[in-house]
Amino acid sequence: MKVGVIMGGVSSEREVSLATGKEMMAHLDRAKYDVIPIDIKRKQDLLEQAQGIDIALLALHGSFGEDGTIQGTLETMGIPYTGCSLLSSGLCMDKDLSKRLLRYEGLHTPDWAVLRSMDDFRDGRLSSFGYPLVVKPNAGGSSIGVTLVRNEESLLEAVNTAFSFGEEVMVEEYIRGEEITCSILNGEHLPIVSIKPGAEFFDYTSKYEPGQSEEQIVTFERETAERILQAAEKSYIAMKCSVYARIDIMLKDGMPYILEVNTLPGMTQTSLLPRSAQAAGITFAGLLDAIIEGSLA
Ligand code: DAL
Ligand code: MG
Repeated sequence: MKVGVIMGGVSSEREVSLATGKEMMAHLDRAKYDVIPIDIKRKQDLLEQAQGIDIALLALHGSFGEDGTIQGTLETMGIPYTGCSLLSSGLCMDKDLSKRLLRYEGLHTPDWAVLRSMDDFRDGRLSSFGYPLVVKPNAGGSSIGVTLVRNEESLLEAVNTAFSFGEEVMVEEYIRGEEITCSILNGEHLPIVSIKPGAEFFDYTSKYEPGQSEEQIVTFERETAERILQAAEKSYIAMKCSVYARIDIMLKDGMPYILEVNTLPGMTQTSLLPRSAQAAGITFAGLLDAIIEGSLA
């Protein structure tokens, strides 16, 4: 089977994607797969390079990759691809829409407001928020452009930074809790991972510099564990995910607050999903097999 590993891309997460792609290429079972690396440097590269592959193994992150655009293009080209559908990818990429759906399903998620312009910033909609709060691009990933804001004086700069990465900015209540993540693979939960970030929050450096953060498989008492797994599963279903996704959560007083659902979670050397799979006895190669098989089913 010809597997095209689609990586790179044009989003701010290009470097992370190349690291994901490299790791996937290192672990794909060469006895089973004919592996074709496809580095997307310009949007049209996909059309030119993906011809003739049997499946696109998506190693992309962020816009034009994780947001449904590539998925739609591949569907038009008649090429199967790994992971969530076009619709689910688009929904999960938009943090505001995601949170609206999660709330509708009765799930907890931190309070938030969306800014579409600097006028929105000035119109008083943030007056109900206390500090600290989190400012992030509404459609970003890997914590790029994200600031933990401790006081009003730092807010403007944080908003400007987030606007430099996209047209909408999310301002979100900061939940002081334990950051955990729960992945779902072909309908099964993988073990919950707890994150102790090396910085004041799980930022880009603490995500990708080996040894910067401590990530551990954790076991919670039964009721809490069930609450977490149920919330993760409910989120996965609400967001219409399929094959696999990683749900990021803040746990406070035993209550899971969903931060977001990642449809193409990182698969780098330091990433959480492969670690969680490993704890379940699934090797990286086995994880890729499961993703490919699940996507072709
Ligand atoms: N956006 C990064 C790749 C992640 O969620 O792992
Ligand atoms: Mg994310």
